[in-house]
Amino acid sequence: MTTLAKYLNTDAHDPALIDVITTVTEVGKTISQLLKKGALADILGEAGNQNVQGEEQKKLDVLANDLLLDALATNSHCAGVASEELDDATPANADGSLLVLFDPLDGSSNIDINMAVGTIFSILPYQRQGHMSENSDFLQAGNKQLAAGYLLYGTSTVLALTIADNVVMFSLDPDTGDYVLIEDNVQIDADTSEYAINASNYRHWRAPMQQYIDELIAGKTGVRGRDFNTRWVAAMVGDVHRILCRGGLFTYPFDTKDPNKAGKLRLMYEANPMSLLIERAGGAATDAVNRILEVEPTEIHQRVPVVLGSKNEVNYVADLHVKHADQ
Ligand code: F6P
Ligand code: MN
Repeated sequence: MTTLAKYLNTDAHDPALIDVITTVTEVGKTISQLLKKGALADILGEAGNQNVQGEEQKKLDVLANDLLLDALATNSHCAGVASEELDDATPANADGSLLVLFDPLDGSSNIDINMAVGTIFSILPYQRQGHMSENSDFLQAGNKQLAAGYLLYGTSTVLALTIADNVVMFSLDPDTGDYVLIEDNVQIDADTSEYAINASNYRHWRAPMQQYIDELIAGKTGVRGRDFNTRWVAAMVGDVHRILCRGGLFTYPFDTKDPNKAGKLRLMYEANPMSLLIERAGGAATDAVNRILEVEPTEIHQRVPVVLGSKNEVNYVADLHVKHADQ
C-alpha cells in the first residue's frame, strides 16, 4: 500500500512542494468531513446569515476558502495565495518559494442537493523571494505550474495530483485518514464517445461549436457515423474526474451570453490545473483552438473557454474552429 506521504517523500520531489501539497490535502480531509455532515452541520446557508442559535453562518465555500487560507498562510514555503473567493491575492511568507491558487469548492451549487463538489489547486513558483507577493506575481502561464490537482468529495474522497510529469490518484481511507494510491500513471484514451456540455447555451455559442454538437447529436446518421452520449455533473471537478477515469470531452465554450465574459471558467485556478492534469495524462486542453497552458494571464480571475479531454476529440473541435474561423 502506498500512502500519499510515502509517494511524495522521495528525492525526486522538492521538499517545499511536498509540504504545500500536504497542507492542501490535510485541509481537504477537514472539508470532506464537513461535507459529510451535510445538512446536520450548522454551516449550510448564505454567508452573513444567522442560524437558529443566532450565530453567524458561513457557506461551505467560504469556510473551505478560510480553512485553506489559514493553513497556507502559516506554511513557510507559501509566499502567497489566490482564490476564487478573494478579490486580490493574499501575501503569506515572503521567504516562501511557492504560490498557491485554488477554487476552494468547485461546483458549490451541488452542495445543497448532496452532489459531488471539489477543491482544485495549482502551485506556481515564486520569483521574488524576500519580498511580499503581489497579484502580478501570480500572472504566469499554466505551463509554469509545478504541481496541480483536485480533491473530489463524491461518494468517496479522491485526490488527483500531477507532480513531476506523472498523474496519480489517491482515495481517502475513512478508517485511517490516509490517502492511499489507487492509480499510478493515469492515461486517457485518445478517442471517446462521451461528451459534457451545458447545451442550454446552444444559441449563444459560435457556429463551429453549434456544428460540433449538431454532429454529435446526429450520431450514426451524421458525418461522425457513430453515436455519442452526454454526461454533465455540473461541477467541473466531477466531469474532469470522469474523463481521467474513462476518457471523454468536457467543454464550457465561448458564448455570447455576457459579452464581458469570454467563457465561464476561470483560467488560473480551474482551467490551468485541470489542463495540466489532462495533458500529462495524454489528453489535450484548448480554448477551442489554442493550448490553455500557453495563455499568458492578465488578471487572476480571468475567464477562458475550455475544451479538454480525449486528444482526438479535442483536436476535432480545434479543426472545426480553424476551418470556420470566419463564423
Ligand atoms: O465553477 C464553475 C462551475 O460551477 C463548474 O464547476 C461547472 O462546470 C460549471 O460552472 C457549471 O455551469 P452551469 O451552471 O452553467 O452548467
Ligand atoms: Mn469552480
